[in-house]
Amino acid sequence: MSIVIFSGTPRKHGRTRQVAKEVAEKLDGTLVDLSEGSLPMFNGEDAQGQNETVQWLRKIVEEAEAFVWVSPEYHNGMSGALKNALDYLGSNHFKGKPTLLLAVSGGGKGGINALNQMRTIGRGLYADVAAQQMIFDPDDFIGDGRLSRESEEKLQEVLSGFFPVQV
Ligand SMILES: Cc1cc2nc3c(=O)[nH]c(=O)nc-3n(C[C@H](O)[C@H](O)[C@H](O)COP(=O)(O)O)c2cc1C
Repeated sequence: MSIVIFSGTPRKHGRTRQVAKEVAEKLDGTLVDLSEGSLPMFNGEDAQGQNETVQWLRKIVEEAEAFVWVSPEYHNGMSGALKNALDYLGSNHFKGKPTLLLAVSGGGKGGINALNQMRTIGRGLYADVAAQQMIFDPDDFIGDGRLSRESEEKLQEVLSGFFPVQV
C-alpha cells in the first residue's frame, strides 16, 4: 500500500517533523515535509500548476492509497502550513482513502483542536478519516528529540491497528 505522510510543521526542528519521520520510516511511506518551504502560498492561479513542488505533491497524493496527517497544535488549531498544502488538493485526491490523524502539542491538553479541525477538513475532502487518533506531548519525547520508548510503542500499536499489513 502506498502511503503519504504529511508533516504539518513549518519548523525545521519541529517535533511534528520528528513524529512524521518516524511514521514514514515505520510505514515505508513518502514524507511531505512542509518545513522545506518549497510550497508557495495557495492563490488559486493556474500558473501555480507549473510549480515543481505543486506538481510533485499532486502526483504523489493522487497515487497514494492512504494518508497520515501530522499537525502541530498552533494557537488552538492545526498548522497553516498543512491547511495550505491541502488547499492545493481536492476530493478527487482523497475520496474514500483511509486517513489517520496525529497531533503534536505543547502540553496542557493541547492537540485536540488540531485533530478536530483536521477531521472537519478530512470530511470536506471526502477522506475516510479513522476514528482512532493520537496526541504527542513534550513528555513523549526524549533528549535527542526522538520519541520515548513508551510513546513509540503506543504509536506502533496505533499504526499496526490502522495499517496491519504495513507494520
Ligand atoms: C505559533 C505557535 C503556537 C502554538 N500554540 C500552541 C497551542 O495553542 N497549544 C499547544 O498545546 N501548543 C502550542 N504550541 C506549541 C507546539 O504545539 C509545540 O511546539 C509542538 O512541539 C508542535 O509544534 P512543532 O512541531 O512546530 O514543534 C505553539 C507553538 C507555536 C510555534
